[in-house]
Amino acid sequence: MTGGESARGLDDARRRLERARRVAVLTGAGISAESGLPTFRDPQGLWQRFRPEELATPQAYAHDPERVWAWYASRYRAACAARPSRAHELLVELEREKGEGFLLVTQNVDGLHARAGSRRVVELHGSLHRARCERCAERFPLPPPEAFTPPPYCPRCGGRARPDVVWFGELLPAEAYLQAEEAFRHAEVALVVGTSAVVEPAASLGRLARACGAYLVEVNPQQTPLSALAHLSLRCGATEGLQALLGEDCP
Ligand code: OAD
Repeated sequence: MTGGESARGLDDARRRLERARRVAVLTGAGISAESGLPTFRDPQGLWQRFRPEELATPQAYAHDPERVWAWYASRYRAACAARPSRAHELLVELEREKGEGFLLVTQNVDGLHARAGSRRVVELHGSLHRARCERCAERFPLPPPEAFTPPPYCPRCGGRARPDVVWFGELLPAEAYLQAEEAFRHAEVALVVGTSAVVEPAASLGRLARACGAYLVEVNPQQTPLSALAHLSLRCGATEGLQALLGEDCP
């Protein structure tokens, strides 16, 4: 682990995490980078190669649904082919320790937290694994990648369906966000792992927790707008940072 965090800071964070009954975690694309999926804003990130306004807005979909579906279908295939990392697994272990006092909030749409075994998960930006009917709003799982040719059609009404993800300019699912806000407002320890913390309103969850008195830990190899607020910033990858926090020896 690099960076200037002191051993005392890490010990303190570990102790607080161990004792905390209410823990809220926010993850972003950085945690899935360790499963081989690209992030958005890093040098090799998706938004360096693609223009969000051409792929991730309602206008883009209205203009060229085939192109938008082709992009989401390729990300769906990549997500299905990926495996959860040790970092994903460590969050499953933390959930088992904390039980009802734990909530994992993710901006990721790849489904890797659920596949690792996390159950108390809120997916703020939707899921690559589902579609939503444009006519009746029914949500349904996509067929396995090898059997999937976009666009999917609604099993209930036969209408064409769109990816069940949140696009720029759209609101987050209200219930999911309220649940996330509640968890961060009451958290004793808040962990923010692998997000650039620039997309609202997810980015504000760390600030909310801090303002409400939580001990805030960030795990990210790069500085983010949240770093200045964090009690401890671990400048390393998600697995290394979570191993350090949870007291697991690095291999
Ligand atoms: P970003 O690509 O903005 O940020 C990824 C973060 O992960 C960066 O801060 C990296 O430094 C960090 N990172 C890279 N490798 C890491 C590793 N091994 N371990 C830990 N951290 C690492 O991705 P998000 O913050 O998730 O929204 O982006 C937020 C939202 O913007 C996404 O959900 C997506 C995007 O537009 C929508 O599509 C609606």
